[in-house]
Amino acid sequence: MRKIFVIGIGVGDPDHMTIQAIKALNQADVFFIPDKGAEKAALRDLRTAICERFIENADYRTISVDVPQRTSSGDYLASVDEWHSRLADIYARLFEHELEENEIGAILVWGDPAIYDSTLRIIERIRIKGLALEIQVIPGISSVQVLAAKHRVVLNQIGESVLLTTGRKLAHGFPDEFGSVVVLLDGTQAFASLAEPDLDIFWGAYLGTDDEILISGRLADVKDKIEAARKLARQQHGWIMDTYLLRKSDRGRC
Ligand SMILES: C[S@@+](CC[C@H](N)C(=O)[O-])C[C@H]1O[C@@H](n2cnc3c(N)ncnc32)[C@H](O)[C@@H]1O
Repeated sequence: MRKIFVIGIGVGDPDHMTIQAIKALNQADVFFIPDKGAEKAALRDLRTAICERFIENADYRTISVDVPQRTSSGDYLASVDEWHSRLADIYARLFEHELEENEIGAILVWGDPAIYDSTLRIIERIRIKGLALEIQVIPGISSVQVLAAKHRVVLNQIGESVLLTTGRKLAHGFPDEFGSVVVLLDGTQAFASLAEPDLDIFWGAYLGTDDEILISGRLADVKDKIEAARKLARQQHGWIMDTYLLRKSDRGRC
């Protein structure tokens, strides 16, 4: 049976590769490398650099996967569903034609495969359609962990919950029932329009890379600075990935 490793590779620092991930890299026969166009070229290059640095035997094949754009319709979930279905067809064809029955394929996933990534969902669709695949997931260091480490903070306040969410959801307001909120996938700087008077923010862009930017402080005091830094960095690099932790300020409390 064909085997697929879904390998978390961290979010920019090759030193964050785990030993388990490196072992899996060295067993794979074929790497399926998504190509999302020029904007994500830097991400594709990191994947290639990881293969070159950690794989000892250069006897592997690399297949570029042409990732289609998601068509944006009013119905977000329907458009994601349609996009995943197209991706599942593309990957199913590649697995069938580029991977022999007894070979191992690998997909290198940004960060951790369990956090805001659809690779596992897409592979599940392929299996449901009838292609026999054995799947092994290798966890990776997520942007969420790198953010906390770089700011030297604990994500949760004592005994409190942490919500992992998106900019799209945060745009509806800060969820009061959570002490801390980690936000990914925010293209619209949802933090800037929050009305809560007393929030702290810990923001990070290009985490783990040489271009890393960190800004933290009281949201009201630093939000303009973050917006300006984000805008400039996006212009300079042509793309940006940023993540942030928002939490109710505990200043004044022990
Ligand atoms: C599709 S999600 C993938 C998350 C990934 N699986 C993880 O574990 O971090 C992409 C989002 O992750 C966050 N992200 C990924 N890499 C990042 C980085 N190097 N610096 C800051 N945020 C990053 C950003 O919020 C970005 O919009």
